[in-house]
Amino acid sequence: MITANPRRFDFHTQHPRRGTNSIKWDLVPEGRLPLWIADMDFAPPQAIAEAIRERLSHPILGYSLVSESFYEALDAFQREQHLRGMPQEEVSVVSAVMPGVKAAIECFTEPGDGVVVQAPVYTPFFQSVRDKNRRVVLNHLREQDGYYRFDLDELDAVIDERTRMLLLCSPHNPVGRIWTRAELEAVADLAVRRDLIVISDEIHADLRLDPYKFLGIAGLGPEIASRTVTLVSPSKTFNIPGCAVAAAAISDPELRKRYRKALKATGTDHVTTPAVIATEAAYRHGTPWLDALRGYLAETVQQVRAVFAERLPQVGAAPVEASFVMWLDFRRLQRERGLDDEQLQRVLREQAQVELSHGPVFGPGGEGFQRLNIATPRTLLREALDRIVRVLG
Ligand SMILES: Cc1ncc(COP(=O)(O)O)c(C=O)c1O
Repeated sequence: MITANPRRFDFHTQHPRRGTNSIKWDLVPEGRLPLWIADMDFAPPQAIAEAIRERLSHPILGYSLVSESFYEALDAFQREQHLRGMPQEEVSVVSAVMPGVKAAIECFTEPGDGVVVQAPVYTPFFQSVRDKNRRVVLNHLREQDGYYRFDLDELDAVIDERTRMLLLCSPHNPVGRIWTRAELEAVADLAVRRDLIVISDEIHADLRLDPYKFLGIAGLGPEIASRTVTLVSPSKTFNIPGCAVAAAAISDPELRKRYRKALKATGTDHVTTPAVIATEAAYRHGTPWLDALRGYLAETVQQVRAVFAERLPQVGAAPVEASFVMWLDFRRLQRERGLDDEQLQRVLREQAQVELSHGPVFGPGGEGFQRLNIATPRTLLREALDRIVRVLG
């Protein structure tokens, strides 16, 4: 039997990615270590490439159906990982998560309507609202000692009569939280009371790190489920974002009908054959690799925290509940050194020769932070941390 021992899987090999049209590597100057955009430097589970190769033994890549077995694999994976399935009748395949978010904004809101965005958050959330001529209704997350919570009082206060939707990042990128049942219940109560549709972006959910369990907001019960669009994807989980694929689950038949119509109208109801094959293979065979990955990431988080605690304590590195990004708090260091965000970014890029994601691009609350992508072999990560410590320590 394959166990979840990280040593049985290879997270150590540095696969050269320069020259592969990698956004992460090829957009960053030679010599600078790229620890920014959220893909991983690990090879995905072997079963994915094997399944694609097997499919390519037939020469024709014609228009394809999404097979029943794809939906079965998705449902079984969700049940196994999060104790809650995704029955086929509730699922629509979508070309990727963000197109799925945009289609939801388009079909469940009108131009000028408000959409709640909880900042700091994954940058495209803001743009997807603005691109559709809707209003960003800002709800700030509250941070204390590196731990973030919802500000429910503010949320209640900022919702006006034309606010129709809440974009929930669950787990949250970049702050690394898995919202607890109590937190989700409070948001769900508010969504019901204020008549909001909830878009729950759960792309990071499978990367819950021990001992944290993940619960999606729709899992709280039928009332909130009936007004929720849940978006999931194997992209982050199995490091196949270049395949581009997602699934949207909606329990309410009327909402689902409207959403499917919007997907068709926006041309986002289409997924490629390799994406479907990769997803099914990942969901069917990728769990031992995923368990090992989670172990590797959890240990890496501890090591990064130890490096900052021992060698650069002016930088806060909070625990991570899910995913492979760490939200580093440079505020104290910036105050001590008199560096503003742009100056800090320049120092990191030009002197330390590391590329992190710049906090302010995550919206209000991102000032003074940098996001570090830790999903890379530890030798490379150690080198990056050494460079940061050498320059800023
Ligand atoms: C919260 C969140 N949603 C969506 C995406 C992107 O998903 P996709 O590439 O499927 O649009 C990301 C990628 O980093 C993300 O962090």
